[in-house]
Amino acid sequence: MTDTIKIAPSILAADFARLGEEVKAIDEAGCDWIHIDVMDGHFVPNLTFGPPVISCIRPWTKKFFDVHLMIDPAQPFLEDYAKAGADQIVVHAEADKHLDRSIQVIKGLGKKAGVSLNPHTPVNVLDHVLDQLDMVLIMSVNPGFGGQSFLPAALDKVRAVKAMIGDRNIDIQVDGGVNASTAKAVVDAGATCLVAGSAVFKGDDYVASIQAIRDAYNA
Ligand code: DX5
Ligand code: ZN
Repeated sequence: MTDTIKIAPSILAADFARLGEEVKAIDEAGCDWIHIDVMDGHFVPNLTFGPPVISCIRPWTKKFFDVHLMIDPAQPFLEDYAKAGADQIVVHAEADKHLDRSIQVIKGLGKKAGVSLNPHTPVNVLDHVLDQLDMVLIMSVNPGFGGQSFLPAALDKVRAVKAMIGDRNIDIQVDGGVNASTAKAVVDAGATCLVAGSAVFKGDDYVASIQAIRDAYNA
């Protein structure tokens, strides 16, 4: 069976002192995308990094850079993230008064566009922008930190978004608390891309960590 599910390790759980090597290691371990969590200490209660760090890790892999912007506002910085090496830029519906415009800006920069929904945000905010999207990100934890427990209410949202998408070519990504115990329910609900931070980086064997997630949803 061809595995069409993408695994996107979140470098939030990597060793920041060795970020380039960590990105190379997950690339060689067989990940599909690299998930890059940008936090501003305002939209979420944590701070990570911005475009200069993304530029520095860009030469370490050719894999797809999936940049999850947990920043408010996002719009003034979209071009910076595109130039830093993002392949896809994901903005939060809650952080953007002009979501449609942000999506247009991302597409105008030649990048794929995604919209992320916090656990409390209803899926109908996507109604009038869905046709422009390459991906919908369903948060299965409240954003800000790795290592939190999966919120099962995300599964209903995944099913609802899958129904909305129908036969359009739009990925559904689930982010937060995804591991070998939760991955099967997430994929069965309709997710096509799994973000995993601690589940990939917690041990030394990234090949085994990624394979454990793949084995779980293929079981
Ligand atoms: C949370 C981030 C996630 C996080 C996932 O705000 O968006 O990408 O790193 O980490 P785990 O997989 O440990 O829940
Ligand atoms: Zn994320």
